[in-house]
Amino acid sequence: MRLILLGPPGAGKGTQAQRLIAKYGIVQLSTGDMLRAAVAAGTPVGLRAKSVMERGELVPDDVVVAIIADRIGQRDAKRGFVLDGFPRTVSQAEALDRLLAERGLELDAVVELKVDESILLQRIEKRVAEMSARGEKVRPDDNPEVLKGRLSAYKAQTAPLVDYYAGKGMLKSVNGMVAIDAVTGAVMGHLAPLVPRGGGSVRRKVKTRKTAKRPAAKASARRKRSAPKKRNKVGKAKNRTRRRLTRA
Ligand code: AP5
Ligand code: MG
Repeated sequence: MRLILLGPPGAGKGTQAQRLIAKYGIVQLSTGDMLRAAVAAGTPVGLRAKSVMERGELVPDDVVVAIIADRIGQRDAKRGFVLDGFPRTVSQAEALDRLLAERGLELDAVVELKVDESILLQRIEKRVAEMSARGEKVRPDDNPEVLKGRLSAYKAQTAPLVDYYAGKGMLKSVNGMVAIDAVTGAVMGHLAPLVPRGGGSVRRKVKTRKTAKRPAAKASARRKRSAPKKRNKVGKAKNRTRRRLTRA
């Protein structure tokens, strides 16, 4: 299963990603988390990203594309991944298309969490309260001023991805204004048809010769098992008729 979660800051991408990785045994690839880790570690990428993130702007495409290119090739991403916060520009989405095509991989779905702008400040404040309660350091971009910048970056640069993926027939939109469990239910409702019994994804399943042959093999086994019974029934009926005729 390979997915993208789309939505403005505070829409619930990280929250839903956590549930999807538990359900499908895939990994969460959050560019926001990776960049924050780079900032905390003081790496060259972190040094480049720090001030940009603090202003609520987008880190340059080449930086995040390089991070994702490296990350999707790692062993733990082989079973699948949920991209949380990537892509964020059409140019990132095109780069992702190329990265996947080079590896012979396909996306299964793009899930958009639809939320009213008016709820986002509350969501950010909720996260600040949750992180403080856990004794974690609050995100420097979780405040009303930076949220404005993040929102305008979203509208100008990320929202066009809704049309980009709708045009490819991949977009599934979900109401992100309801309770967290209800959002999860709606997301998984969209994904369920993509996951045949036994896991994996429909796209990958139909491509493997082994799985493509399985239904036919099962059907022929069923025919073999049921054929002798039919002959027995016919044979018994014939015998009964013969006995009746002899008696008469
Ligand atoms: P990133 O970390 O991706 O931040 P974001 O997109 O602004 O999104 P958030 O993490 O704030 O929100 P979320 O949707 O994950 O919500 P959450 O689940 O936590 O990016 C940060 C920065 O890094 C960017 O501004 C940019 O500078 C840079 N960056 C990252 N990726 C980049 C890229 N690809 N290109 C360029 N730059 C990039 O939920 C929020 C709160 O709401 C929580 O408290 C949660 O409990 C609550 N909540 C969630 N759902 C519900 C619900 N249904 N009902 C009630 N409460 C809910
Ligand atoms: Mg997040």
